[in-house]
Amino acid sequence: MIVAVLLAAGRGERFGEDKTQVLLRGKPVWRWSCETYLAHPNVDGVLVVGSDSNLSAIQSASPEAIGHVLGGATRQESCARALAALPEGAEIVLVHDAARPFVSPSTISDVIRGVRAAGAAVPAVRVTDTIKEVRDDRLVTLDRSRLVAVQTPQGAKVELLRQAHAEATGEATDEMALLEAIGVRPEVVPGEFKNFKITTPEDLGRARALVGSGEHRTGLGYDIHPFADDADRPMWLGGVLFEGGFGLVGHSDADALAHAIVDAILGAVGLGDIGRHFSNTDPHWHGEPSSTFLRHAASLVRAEGWEIQHIDATVIAERPKISPRVEEMKVAMADGLGIRPDQVSLKATTNEKLGALGRSEGLAAFAVANLVR
Ligand code: CTP
Ligand code: MG
Repeated sequence: MIVAVLLAAGRGERFGEDKTQVLLRGKPVWRWSCETYLAHPNVDGVLVVGSDSNLSAIQSASPEAIGHVLGGATRQESCARALAALPEGAEIVLVHDAARPFVSPSTISDVIRGVRAAGAAVPAVRVTDTIKEVRDDRLVTLDRSRLVAVQTPQGAKVELLRQAHAEATGEATDEMALLEAIGVRPEVVPGEFKNFKITTPEDLGRARALVGSGEHRTGLGYDIHPFADDADRPMWLGGVLFEGGFGLVGHSDADALAHAIVDAILGAVGLGDIGRHFSNTDPHWHGEPSSTFLRHAASLVRAEGWEIQHIDATVIAERPKISPRVEEMKVAMADGLGIRPDQVSLKATTNEKLGALGRSEGLAAFAVANLVR
C-alpha cells in the first residue's frame, strides 16, 4: 500500500500567513496537490497533516482522505506524527509539501519507481543560478554542476523512514537528510520547475500567473444623497473635499460615490450592502469618513480570497464640477481600496436639468466593480 502524506501544518512565517489555505483559482493551495494524489492510480490513500488552526477546515474539505493528523512544531515532528498514524499495511510513504500545488502525476510515478529500486527517492532539479556561500565577509562560489534543488514528494519505504526518524539526532529540513544519516542512498529522479514551493508572497504571484484566476464577479452599486441647504455642510465626494459647502446630507460623510463603490464591491461577492455592515442608526458611524467603509469592504472581500481588479463609476449631478478633481478622487478611492489609481475609472454627467437630480436637489452615483479570485 502506498500512502501520500500531505504536510500542511506549517505557520507560513516567511509568507506572512497560512499559505496552505490561500486560494488559487478558488481552491486552497493544499487542495491542489491533494487532488493530484487522490487521482493517482498508484496511490492508495492520502493522509493530511494540519495545524490547530487549519485542521478542521482541511478535514471537512477532504472527506476522501484516509486520515487527518494534527502536526507538530517542526516539519520533522509533523512528519513523525504522520508516520505514527499510517494505516497498517502501508509499505511506501510519499511525503509532500502542501505548499507545492503543482506536483505532476509523472513525478509521483517516478518517485514510486525510485523507492522500489533504492528504498528511497527524491525529485530534484538542476540549479540554474550560480550559488554562492556567504562566509564571514566573502563569497565563495560553489560548483553549480554538482548542485541540485530537491523537491517533494520524498518517498521511502515506511520501515526505513521510521527507523531514520527514530535514530535522528537533530532537526532536518527534509526526510532525505534523515535517511542519508542512516546510510540510505536515495535515488534522485528528475523534478520539474513547476513543482516549486510557495514560500513567499512572490511565489504566490508566480502560482497565480500559472493557473490564472478562475472566478470573475461583477457587482453594481448605487447611492443617492440630497444636498444640504446649509453652507457649513462640507461637500465630500470620492474622498475629496469640495469648496463651498452645501454638501450632501447623510449619517456619515454622505459621500455617495464612495458608498456606491462599497456596494458594488460587496455586491460582487454577495456580502449584502453598505447598510448591513455600517448601520446608519449606529452612532459609531456618525460623520465617519468613507475611507473607513472602503477599507472595511475591501478587507471583507479579501478575506474571502477576492482581488479587486477594476472599478468604474459615474456621478450624476448638476454640481460640483468633477473633472478638475477627478485624478485626486481616483487616488483617494484607490487608496481606500488598496488598489492602484489606474484601476479606478471615474466620470460624471449632469442630468440635463431633468427631474430631482436636474433641479440640483441631490447627487447620485453608480459604480461597477470587477473582482477575481
Ligand atoms: N510544515 C508542517 N509542519 C510544520 C512546518 C511545516 O507540516 N511544523 C509543512 C508546511 O505546511 C509546508 C511544508 O511543510 O507545506 C514545507 O514547509 P515550509 O515551506 O517551511 O512551510 P512553513 O513552515 O509553513 O513556512 P515558514 O518556514 O516560512 O514558516
Ligand atoms: Mg518552515
